Amino acid sequence: MGDFKKNIALIGFMATGKSTIGPLLAEKNGYALIDTDKLVEADMGMKIAAIFSTMGEESFRKAEHKALKKALEMDKAVISTGGGMILLKKNRELLTQKAFVVSLSAQPETIFDRVKGDNTRPLLKCEDPLLRIKQMLAERQQYYDCCDFKISTDDWTAEQCCQKILEAYR
Ligand code: S3P
Repeated sequence: MGDFKKNIALIGFMATGKSTIGPLLAEKNGYALIDTDKLVEADMGMKIAAIFSTMGEESFRKAEHKALKKALEMDKAVISTGGGMILLKKNRELLTQKAFVVSLSAQPETIFDRVKGDNTRPLLKCEDPLLRIKQMLAERQQYYDCCDFKISTDDWTAEQCCQKILEAYR
């Protein structure tokens, strides 16, 4: 029991289902839910898109790291992270030390479908979002693979995903 990890952290690319699975998982396991994107927005008093456009990605990444540290002070929480949380080595280290890390995945086409018409994700604002998604996935895949449990949200419903995650966690 000594090294049992009490928090569950969800990692994964944008639109792989973290915001759907997170609340459901928290409810099913009687855990609090913390969303690091929301912590950053509350801390900075700005929406993510505004933070990126006025202060740049680096400022966002600093605030995101701070939000992760704060979230990991919790005990018994589901921590839903932004898709780029795993880019910084210090975040990956914190996550693997202090949480049971669950990596959600989805096919690029599914992600593209889910983000179509959504302008809250500055990194996907471009001529060819599907190509950008494929490129970013290729760059980041190695980090999304650093986890305790991996599940595809293409293959299962949110309900089934939660069941499988909890079986692996308990
Ligand atoms: C980002 C993912 C976003 C948000 C920001 C940057 C990324 O979170 O943190 O736009 O670098 O992948 P979601 O994964 O919740 O969309």
